[in-house]
This record gives sequence, C-alpha cells and structure tokens, in this order.
Amino acid sequence: MSETTIESDVKVRLALTVNGEPAEGLVDASRTLLEALREDLQLTGTKHGCELGECGACAVLVDGEPVLSCLVLAVECDGRRIDTVEGLQSRDTLHPLQDAFADLGGSQCGYCTPGILMTAKALLDRHAAPTRDEIREALAGNLCRCTGYLQIVEAVEKAAEQLRTGAGGHASPMPVGDDSPAKAGAR
Ligand code: FES
Ligand code: FES
Repeated sequence: MSETTIESDVKVRLALTVNGEPAEGLVDASRTLLEALREDLQLTGTKHGCELGECGACAVLVDGEPVLSCLVLAVECDGRRIDTVEGLQSRDTLHPLQDAFADLGGSQCGYCTPGILMTAKALLDRHAAPTRDEIREALAGNLCRCTGYLQIVEAVEKAAEQLRTGAGGHASPMPVGDDSPAKAGAR
C-alpha cells in the first residue's frame, strides 16, 4: 500500500488514514479537512460548496460517520479514518450506490453527488433496509439543485436492496460521484 504525503509549509503534524491508505505530513493549524483533502491530497472528488455547513457537498466519513469537512479542522481528525468518494468503488467495480445513482438519474450535474453518496453509505452501513422517510432524514443536510430528490431516494433504496441481496455493481470507467470528466467543471 503506497503512502500518501500531505505537503504543506505549515506547522502541525497530521496522520490520517484516507481510503485505507496512510497520509501524513505538516498542515496549517487552520486548514479544514476539506482543504487538506482537496488541496494537499488532491482528492477533489469531495466538493466545496457553501463552506458554511449548509449544503452537504463536502460530506465525507470520519471513522464511519458523515462529517461536513468544511466545518472540521484537519488536525481534529489526527489519527482517524477518513473515507471519501474516491474510495467508494472497489477496484473497477462501482459501489451499488454509484450503480443505482447512474441507473436512476440520481446524479445530474454531479456537484452534490459525492456528499450524498458518502452520507448514504453511512446510512446503509448501519441500516440495511431504511424506509423512504429514513433516507430523506439522513440526506436532509445534502442539497441538490437538479434532481428534485426523488431519483436520489429511489437510488438509495435500490442500492440498499442490491446490498441486501448481494448483487454486485458494474465495472465502469467513469465512477459516479468521483472526479469523472463529466464533473471536471465542478472542481
Ligand atoms: S461546503 Fe461544507 S456544507 Fe457546504
Ligand atoms: S445533481 Fe446537480 S446539485 Fe445535485
């Protein structure tokens, strides 16, 4: 497993596990987790939207729990496990959530998609068969300007069913919610 280096010209030593790989280096004490992921680790799948904790575009998992990375200092995450959308697919196989979002139109412009995928993953990790209301509640902090939300909820339901039945995702050269060419304008 290769080691990723966080490069920064500032002062606080930080060690994370990001998508299963160690990442360590020096970061500014005022750096947010969002900035560390996007600017130091070049993991630009996680999006910056409002940077005020209001849109959910920056959601990642910290020790398995969804966190708004724009509101958390990177140093607060020292020693913790961070999961981002880049780690969602397994090798060349999409996660069932990515599969379902692609199939059902849960992702359109894609800007909200990484945060929604990670928030939904946390829900499905702890709840194999959430109701539609539970899905809506879990995703209440994730804003989407494109879909009207129905496709998103249906995609999470479909992914939950796939996970329960063991149905695998599809191989794809263009991961949904990752930094695919379709999302390049959303960096
Ligand atoms: S960018 Fe973090 S909540 Fe909007
Ligand atoms: S797909 Fe465009 S904001 Fe959600």
